[in-house]
Parts: sequence; C-alpha cells; structure tokens
Amino acid sequence: MEGQRDSKRTLKQNPGCFSKLSFMWWLLVLILPEVSCEQSFTTFHPERREWAFNHMTVHKKTGALYIGAVNRVYQLAGNLTLLVSHDTGPEDDNKACYPPLIVQPCTEPLVSTNNINKLLLIDYSQNRLLACGSLYQGVCKLLRLDDLFILVEPSHKKEHYLSSVNQTGTMYGVIVPSQGKDGTLFIGTAVDGKQDYFPTISSRKLPLDPESSAMLDYELHTDFVSSLIKIPSDTLALVSHFDIYYIYGFASGNFVYFLTVQPETPENSMSSSGPSNDLFYTSRIVRLCKDDHKFHSYVSLPIGCVRNRIEYRLLQAAYLGKPGRVLAASLNISAQDDVLFAIFSKGQKQYLHPPDDSALCVFSIRDINAQIKERMQSCYQGEGNLELNWLLGKDVPCTKAPVPIDDSFCGLDINQPLGGSQLVTGHTLYTESRDRMTSVTSYVYNGYCVAFVGTKSGRLKKVSLECRSCFLERCASDKLRCVQYWTCLS
Ligand SMILES: *[C@@H]1O[C@H](CO)[C@@H](O)[C@H](O)[C@H]1NC(C)=O
Ligand SMILES: *[C@@H]1O[C@H](CO)[C@@H](O)[C@H](O)[C@H]1NC(C)=O
Ligand SMILES: *[C@@H]1O[C@H](CO)[C@@H](O)[C@H](O)[C@H]1NC(C)=O
Repeated sequence: MEGQRDSKRTLKQNPGCFSKLSFMWWLLVLILPEVSCEQSFTTFHPERREWAFNHMTVHKKTGALYIGAVNRVYQLAGNLTLLVSHDTGPEDDNKACYPPLIVQPCTEPLVSTNNINKLLLIDYSQNRLLACGSLYQGVCKLLRLDDLFILVEPSHKKEHYLSSVNQTGTMYGVIVPSQGKDGTLFIGTAVDGKQDYFPTISSRKLPLDPESSAMLDYELHTDFVSSLIKIPSDTLALVSHFDIYYIYGFASGNFVYFLTVQPETPENSMSSSGPSNDLFYTSRIVRLCKDDHKFHSYVSLPIGCVRNRIEYRLLQAAYLGKPGRVLAASLNISAQDDVLFAIFSKGQKQYLHPPDDSALCVFSIRDINAQIKERMQSCYQGEGNLELNWLLGKDVPCTKAPVPIDDSFCGLDINQPLGGSQLVTGHTLYTESRDRMTSVTSYVYNGYCVAFVGTKSGRLKKVSLECRSCFLERCASDKLRCVQYWTCLS
C-alpha cells in the first residue's frame, strides 16, 4: 500500500511531451517518472514534504483537480495552478478520546495530530466534495466544489465518526445518487479494534440539504435489521489483528461493490481453533444491492488471478473502466459493459510488505455477477454452508428454499450474509516481478484499451491491452501477449 502513497508526493505535468494524451495527463501524474524530460514538468508540491497526497479526483466536466492530503484539501486547475488550499489539520486530538471533544470533554492529553485524508469523493448531483479525515475519530466535511467553502461538518452524532485509523488506503466510499432525492453513501473502513464503535461496512444517508439533521445517518437502523455490519468481538478475540481494509469500491448496474483485503480466519468453526498467528490474507469482492437497506444482499467471495500456476491474491489497487471494442471481443462482452482492472501481489502472505511479483488482471463485471448468482443458487438449493466465519463465527448451513434467483436477486432474510470460498478468477494481462505495481487506471482510445500502471519505484507503465484473441481459460494462459511500453512520456 505504501508504494502508491509515496509515489504521489509530487504531481508532474509535461504539456509538450504527450500532446495527444494531454487531456488525460491527470492519469499520468499518479507516478513519479524518473525520466530525462523531467525538467520541463509543471509540478505541485504540498506545503511540507511529509504532508503527502492521499487521494486525488478530477471533475468530469470542469477538469478541476481535487487532492486530499495530510492536513489539506487542495483545488487545482488542470494546469496544476493552485486555486484553493483548505486546512483540515493539524489539530489537538487524542485517539483515545471518544466521543470527540466537541461532544464531551476528554481527560487524555491532547497533542497536535495530523489529519490524514481518508476519503475524497465528488457528489456530482449536489456539486459538493465529501472529504473525510482521520482526526476526531474520523469526521467528514462537505465542501462546495467551486471554492471549498465548508457546507457542513457534521460531528454531533455517533454516526458522524467513520473511523480514526490514520492510514490511508483502509477506507473506501461509494456515492449512489438518486434523481432529485437524497443520495446514499456506502462506506467500508478498517476499524483498528474499535469494532464496537465503527461498522466495517454501512450505508448512510446523503441528503440534498447539507444541513439536514439526517446527514450520514444509517439508511436503516432498528433492533433487528440495519444498514451496517460490525466485526464481532469474538472474531477479534480469536484473530487479534483481524480487520478489513477497503481498497476500492464502485457502483455498476444495480449493485455496489467493494474490494477488500482481510486476514484469513480459520476455515472451519472459529470456536474450534485457538488464537492464531495467521499470516495469510485474502482479497475479497463484496457486493450489495444499491437499494437494500437491510443488507440481505451481502455476498463476499475471494478474488484474485493465476498465471503459470502462481496465485496473485494480495490486492494492491483497482479501477473500474470500459474494455473498448478489442478487449470486449476477447472477453465476450460488449464495449459498453464495465470491466474491473486489478493489481495483485503474489501469494497470500505479507500483505503489509507485499512481494514485488505482481499481476495486472481484468474481470468482466458480468462474470463476477454470474459467479455470485451461481453461489446464491447453490446455497438456496441447501448445499453447504454460508462460509462467512469472520462474521457468523460458526458454520451455518445453507437453507433450501424454492426461490427463483435471477440477475437482480437482492437476498432474503435467510441465507445471508453469504460468503464463499471459490475464487473469482480474473484474466492475467501482465506481470511484473521486480518493481511492484501499486496503482492502475485505464482508458479507451480508438476502440483499444490502454492501462496505465504505476509502480512502487514511481515508474509509469503503459500497457496496451491489444491482447490477441484468446486469454480465456480455453487457451494456455501464457499464450497471452500484451504489448507493453515503458514510458518516458514522449
Ligand atoms: C491555469 O489555468 C487557470 C484556470 O484555467 C488559468 O486562470 C491560469 O491562467 C492558467 N495558468 C497558466 C500558467 O497557464
Ligand atoms: C498515526 O498514528 C500513530 C500513533 O497513533 C503515529 O505514530 C503516526 O505518526 C500517525 N501517522 C501519521 C501519518 O501522522
Ligand atoms: C458469449 O456470450 C454469450 C451471451 O452473452 C453466450 O451465449 C456465449 O455462449 C458466449 N460465448 C463464449 C465463447 O463464451
């Protein structure tokens, strides 16, 4: 994870170097190319070197660039001219203070603390920016897109605190707008042992009116069903470092998806095994229906890819894009369908120090949905268990029920939440064994899909996905040849 962050310390632009792609330059600035044309780059630096950039987003229409950094949110013009700098920290805080000082005094000593940007999302429907930080147990601000004026900084309710983890790359959010109505914000976050305070995943109200008292309330919260899932304390008692890191999220069709990494829990009944010092991690894809406030549609399956019998299972980064005509044909989908590009490091160990051997893989959302549907169908036939031991704590058998399960099935109060152990396997497009890939984005040009991959050492790779006809399972996977370029951006 840290590689990606390190490489975002400086933004660079070189208008002369790649004019054809100049409207896409923002894709290229994710990395720090050590190239000879460096002196002609425009750069933008944070005020202090250690106030790293955490997140970046570009407005689809205006091209304005928003950066969430340590202690700052910046608005830049497309040419990297600073337009607004908005302070978010440092402030006096103490992680042990809960609820935050604003609500009730805390006896712990307060010290000047950095505010790490954890989430930076544009809410297009209301022309505002949601920026969440690590201070005060993780509060958010809604800022006006034009000038970063604070519309609201809700902090008077428990729901307003998302998580105090001060590590970026542990939280992800997805905004689901609703035409003319209040939107929904899905949040997945690491909780760092505070599983009683913070749900690992939840859906919140995002009212049109920023001053609405319902801001960030759970969509549904009753004694019986709620729009949230908490990690049970029993799970932490057994796997003390258990947490779920949310690396990426997106909405596609009727669903919201998150891509996570979490320590493996014992395969069988959790109660039958003692405290474990497990070093194995699993990347998973989590899917929920957009409108499912009861979270009955929760399904989670392991995700990764394989090449030459080597498994790549440690998610580093992901990006939802379009395949373009050529890649779409290879995947047997249409060019308008969504595809997910994802980078995984080799194996399942050492998530905190991932191996350099890494793979770029593609998944069609259609395949992912088909596999989730199959999983639900088999469970509703009464086969096997729910296989979600970190949450259920024990083996819970699937219940046979004569329910038709189609592509839009959103769950019932039985057979949920549903896990699974069969790997959702992507198509491996490209591997790199020495300089770990840490970020990815993609773009379609003339029907061809091009992926831009950033590496740990700050290099940018442009991978043309003009992969000849067959990289589906029918063919030997190593027959796949993707054209690869190293960039000097020239
Ligand atoms: C950068 O863009 C802004 C806004 O579009 C414009 O006002 C400014 O003159 C530009 N600066 C340079 C150096 O091109
Ligand atoms: C995060 O918090 C820990 C202690 O809680 C501190 O040592 C560390 O410096 C913090 N990270 C940043 C980037 O401020
Ligand atoms: C391609 O997809 C269509 C449906 O979209 C399906 O009928 C067909 O069997 C698929 N072809 C292959 C080779 O998988």
